[in-house]
Amino acid sequence: MIVGAGLVGTLRSVVQYAIPPVSNAESSFPTLLLLLPNGNPVHTSDLVVNNPSVVTFDYPLQNEPNFLLRLGDAANNDVKIESTTVDVPATGGKYHSPAGVGPYGSVVSSSAICQHLGCIPPELRFHPPSSTNFPGQIHCDCHGSTYDPYKGFSVVTGPTKSPLPGLVLSYSSKDDTYSATMLVGSTIYGHTTDLSGGNPVSSSGTTVTTLGV
Ligand code: FES
Repeated sequence: MIVGAGLVGTLRSVVQYAIPPVSNAESSFPTLLLLLPNGNPVHTSDLVVNNPSVVTFDYPLQNEPNFLLRLGDAANNDVKIESTTVDVPATGGKYHSPAGVGPYGSVVSSSAICQHLGCIPPELRFHPPSSTNFPGQIHCDCHGSTYDPYKGFSVVTGPTKSPLPGLVLSYSSKDDTYSATMLVGSTIYGHTTDLSGGNPVSSSGTTVTTLGV
C-alpha cells in the first residue's frame, strides 16, 4: 500500500508537471468586449455557424489577430465544444483548452498567427466541415500546418509543433455579448510574452473584422 501511495504521488507530480497552470498572469490580461465595426457589441446572431469568411479581432496587442469561430457540424448545427487536454509537441507539455461559450457552447477563439513561421489570414484560415479540403480544420497555406479548432486548436499536422494559443472568451447571457479575457497555452508566435512586444488594444473594446476568402 505504501509503495502504491508513493507511486500515485509520483504520478501526480508528473501529471502536475506535465499540465502547467492555465495561466499565472490572468490579472494582467485586459477584458475587452467584442465589438462590430459600427461600435455595437457582437451578439450571437452576428456569428455565422461555420462561417467560410475569416472573422478576427486583435488581442491583447494591436495587429495580433485572433479567430472568432462559431463551430458547427456538416449540417451547420452548433457543436458544443468541450475543454480538452492539448498536447504541445514542441515541449512535450500539455494544457487545458477553453470550452466553447455562447448559448450553444459553440463559440471559440484562438490566435490567428501560425505557430510555425507566423503566417496570418487569409493564408491561415478555417475550412468548414462541408469543405472538400481540410474539412473542419484550420489550414495554413504557407507550409501546410493544420490545427483542430474542435479540439482546442491542437496540432493535426506539422510542420508546426505548437497548437494555436487558445483565447478564453466570456459570455454574458444577460446581454448576449462576448469578451476576450486571456490567452492560454503556447506564447503567441514571435513574442516572448503575450503582453509585450507591441501596443495594447484600446481598453474600450476590440473590433471584429471580416475577411472574405
Ligand atoms: S507559417 Fe504556417 S505552416 Fe508555416
